[in-house]
Amino acid sequence: MTPTKSTTKIPAKTWFITGASRGIGAEIARAALANGDRVVATGRDARAIARLFESELDRVLPLQLDVTSEADAIMAVEAAVARFGRIDVLVNNAGYGLLGLFEEATPDEITTQFATNVFGAFNVMRAVLPVMRRQHGGHIFNMSSVGGIVGFAAASVYCASKFALEGLSESLAPELAGFGIGMTIVEPGFIRTDFLDSSSVRYGTRTVEGYGETAAAMRRVYEEKNHAQQGDAAKLGAALVMLANAEQPPLRWAAGSDAVAAITGKLGTARGELEQWRTLSVSTDRTA
Ligand SMILES: NC(=O)c1ccc[n+]([C@@H]2O[C@H](COP(=O)([O-])OP(=O)(O)OC[C@H]3O[C@@H](n4cnc5c(N)ncnc54)[C@H](OP(=O)(O)O)[C@@H]3O)[C@@H](O)[C@H]2O)c1
Repeated sequence: MTPTKSTTKIPAKTWFITGASRGIGAEIARAALANGDRVVATGRDARAIARLFESELDRVLPLQLDVTSEADAIMAVEAAVARFGRIDVLVNNAGYGLLGLFEEATPDEITTQFATNVFGAFNVMRAVLPVMRRQHGGHIFNMSSVGGIVGFAAASVYCASKFALEGLSESLAPELAGFGIGMTIVEPGFIRTDFLDSSSVRYGTRTVEGYGETAAAMRRVYEEKNHAQQGDAAKLGAALVMLANAEQPPLRWAAGSDAVAAITGKLGTARGELEQWRTLSVSTDRTA
């Protein structure tokens, strides 16, 4: 991490955060406010968000935004610009986990997972990017997961959605660099929020023969972790404020020692496999 080296005062920023009603999104909003910034706090229930930040409504604009609605995204961005004039930092945080075995998930459940975690973020980026291009600057945090770079059994569809978000983000970054718009993909491990709570997480509803106890055992692991995760959402929020003020924020940033360990393992395995099969890999080139 490269915190800002400059001692000159950094002007207050305007943050636009999706899924700010609770969990990581709410903590990012609190951290930005504690830093003296302004926050457009969006969510599916704007009134609930207004109640959450009722003592700071001079610097908080609570807005209705279900990320699966492109119309909501466009209206929210217009309202944000009308109130604060600009958007410096976009946090695509809204999302949930569809967990369980791949074969347990129905096509509709998978479509809804992608509509939120992937196309939801796309909707918001399409609405915000013209604003950032016009102002020639900004930064996007796309909330992926350790499951956006490492695949996990019993989380295949969720991981697929986060891998998709990472693919878009990594490819979009060079398209935006010329406009002074930065991109950071955030990869948290287990963070203590409602993520694994029945108010948020969903499990595939099809019963599939043949996996034996696997499905139930994996679900028990997640249920035991509910509200017992090691990661601290408030510390994650504060870290994002530091990253937003860094001279050169990274393209990828892992949050939590579990995320660092899993990603380190993945990189080692991927490098090892590449080396092991290098000769066969390069043998597919056409010979001159
Ligand atoms: N906690 C973790 O261990 C962890 C790890 C890696 C990545 N993440 C990612 O971090 C992000 C935030 O999760 P969290 O841990 O803070 O979970 P959370 O406490 O369950 O919060 C999820 C947030 O997303 C919002 N949301 C869900 N669907 C939405 C939609 N269609 N439109 C707008 N908002 C929507 C929820 O709004 P409502 O209040 O209206 O439901 C809520 O504000 C997610 O993208 C998640 O995948 C979490």
